[in-house]
Formats: sequence, C-alpha cells, structure tokens
Amino acid sequence: MSERFHDITVSVNGEEVRESVDARTTLVDFLRETAGLTGSHVGCEHGVCGACTVRVDGAVVRGCLMLAVQCDGARVDTIEGVADSGEITDLQQAFVARNALQCGFCTPGMLLSAQELLTAGGVPSREAIRAHLSGNYCRCTGYQAIVDAVEAVAKARAGVAP
Ligand code: FES
Ligand code: FES
Repeated sequence: MSERFHDITVSVNGEEVRESVDARTTLVDFLRETAGLTGSHVGCEHGVCGACTVRVDGAVVRGCLMLAVQCDGARVDTIEGVADSGEITDLQQAFVARNALQCGFCTPGMLLSAQELLTAGGVPSREAIRAHLSGNYCRCTGYQAIVDAVEAVAKARAGVAP
C-alpha cells in the first residue's frame, strides 16, 4: 500500500517550510491552511478562474491544479511574498488609483498574471493584455480598469509617455 502522507520541503516566499502533507492536498490548500498564507484564493477549484494563481520556480501556475507534494524542493512565491518584496508595488498602486478592484477576490491572481506579462517587457497592446488575463475571472470590474492599470504600468516601466 502506498504512503498517504509525504514529507516535503518547500521554499515559500524564501522561507523554508517542512511539512508532512496528505498526498491529495492541493498547493493552494497547503499555502492557505498549512502556511497560513490566505492571499491565494480558492474559487472554482478546477483550473478555470485563476483565483489560486501562484508562482512555482518562477512560472505562474494554478494552485488548485498542483499538489503540494509536487512542490517538494521547489520555490513557491505567493502574492504575499511578491507584494512584500516590492516587486509589484507600482502595479498595486495602479490598481488602486484606477479602481481596478472591487471585492478583491480575483486581485491576487490578477496581479500575479499581470506581472508575468509585464516581466516580458515592452508595452503589450490592450488586446494582448486582455488575452493574457483571460484566465483570471473578475466578476466585479468589467476588466476595463484592470486593462487600464496594466497598460499604465507597462508604459511607465518602459519609459513611454502615458
Ligand atoms: S480555484 Fe484554481 S483556477 Fe479557480
Ligand atoms: S474585484 Fe471582485 S472578482 Fe474581481
């Protein structure tokens, strides 16, 4: 009979976390319930809404579609770590300035996905921004202000006049 619990070591926002986890525990549940990092949200739980978005070894993933045991030895960055490091301060400020959030449920995932796009550099078109964020559902804003905010940050980072 295979083991149900597994010892894993994960770097979460740069801090080592050692835990014994149930094989079926998802990464987002591990982050929220074991690591106490509730910025990653749980919405659809089947890879559609993007609320659970986090980074694993630098790549944006769905936290509900990965198991915690798959992250043994990996570096996981959550919205808490990315925000605390200052990496997305300009993006957070742009979201606030342009009312790009209402309930905020989608916002952590939206910010991480937007940062992924912005990290590629240049100034993406509004269509490219919409396409990139199409995997992150927002039920409140209608997306216009979100696209405005991401576009404004892209221009600012590229040194292009708004
Ligand atoms: S909760 Fe993971 S994509 Fe919706
Ligand atoms: S701000 Fe409410 S779901 Fe996006």
